[in-house]
Amino acid sequence: MSIHTFEAKTYIERRKILIENLESKTILFLGNRESSVNFKDNWYPFRQDSTFLYYFGLNVPNIDVVINTSNGNVTLFGDELTIDDIIWTGTLPSLKELAEKVGITDVQPANKLQSTLNNHTLFLPPYRPEHEIRLSELLQKDIEFIRTRSSIELIEQVVSQRNFKSKEEVKTLHDACTLTSKMHFEVMSKAKLGMHEFDLVSIAQSFRGKHDVNFSFLPICTTQGHVLHNHSYVNKLNKGDMVLLDAGLESNLLYAGDMTRTFPVERKFTAIQADLYQIVLNAQKEAIKASRIGNSFVDVHLKSAETTVQGLIDIGIMKGNAQEAVHAGAHTMFFQCGLGHLMGLDVHDMENLGEQYVGYGNSMVKSKEFGLKSLRLGRKLEEGFVITIEPGIYIIPQLIDKFYSEQKYFDFINYNELNKFRNFGGIRIEDDYLIKSSGIELLGEPLAKEIKDIEAIRSNIS
Ligand code: GLY
Ligand code: MN
Repeated sequence: MSIHTFEAKTYIERRKILIENLESKTILFLGNRESSVNFKDNWYPFRQDSTFLYYFGLNVPNIDVVINTSNGNVTLFGDELTIDDIIWTGTLPSLKELAEKVGITDVQPANKLQSTLNNHTLFLPPYRPEHEIRLSELLQKDIEFIRTRSSIELIEQVVSQRNFKSKEEVKTLHDACTLTSKMHFEVMSKAKLGMHEFDLVSIAQSFRGKHDVNFSFLPICTTQGHVLHNHSYVNKLNKGDMVLLDAGLESNLLYAGDMTRTFPVERKFTAIQADLYQIVLNAQKEAIKASRIGNSFVDVHLKSAETTVQGLIDIGIMKGNAQEAVHAGAHTMFFQCGLGHLMGLDVHDMENLGEQYVGYGNSMVKSKEFGLKSLRLGRKLEEGFVITIEPGIYIIPQLIDKFYSEQKYFDFINYNELNKFRNFGGIRIEDDYLIKSSGIELLGEPLAKEIKDIEAIRSNIS
């Protein structure tokens, strides 16, 4: 369990901004508890709530914080270890010591928490069922109230702080992305014909373990790249397959990295693999170019989709005018999801607070259309945003059949040509970037993505 924190002044400053912007409020921040796998004392690895980490830094279970913005008091609630606990855990820093590390001086026993709350206490939307129950008990409201009445002003305040990464956050995000990049290199340079997907996950796991950090999400490692979130690892790597690895590591301060590479199992891409790979890479480059302050990410997404469509027109799978095809939605045959998302303490940053608030804000409404409904980030890009750019081409046989039977996009898709590649799979390329006034900055060490560079790495396999 990571116990790294920034210096206390970082958290004091973040809380000061929160307190100044939400006058005369009582705010309850629930920390996470241990979560059981199959019986009470057999736990999943502990991970603190990310907003809790943002304001209070402590990756420690069973603590909560109440902030009273009228007088600026910040109180941490939790119980010090008893001798019964110490028998199992050994000596650990006291809550008082931990609290001091993050600039909190007032520590109270857990049973004092409820008396500090009132009928108007602000809370964030709970995403764990046990938090719904705790909030319901602590605030003496029914579960329906807890599910529907979290505080929009608190959500908006948190988003207005967490969306903008400070210098020290950028530094730790670089660390996460460099670790992530190196892990991808390990897998790309060690994968061999005849291995299974689980062998590759095991290479990634071993790298993760040696650096004593966690995955930022469950890795996707698959020869079936068109299955967007494929979490099964049973397939063998056969001739002609490509591997899609979408995996990320956290830094020691629990900030996320998130990268995807798609590479051939053999030394070289086949002709059609190279064609489609180059189209995805061109779409990523177009998106990188368009990701400038003031441009909305919806527009970047659509521009990148247009590049993909133009590439597919050039090789005969699509036809007509690329802009018109994207306007009609024909690109969603191949690109059913979003171009990217915000990233920070969460790999999909603050998704628990609501994509509308985080990725769109007050001036835009998230679309419900197929394709755009999966775009988590739509708003205008601002200095300090950290985003992923992850275009792809996914050929999903069931979607071809569905769209064909609905006579969809006949003006833009050459179904005869497309059907030749119905079992092709999928390709995604993903990197992480900081939006700056001077342009866009790649986070982490660069990792091969040009065809020639990937083939050079794959040619070195014994
Ligand atoms: N890398 C996984 C995702 O962005 O959903
Ligand atoms: Mn991603």
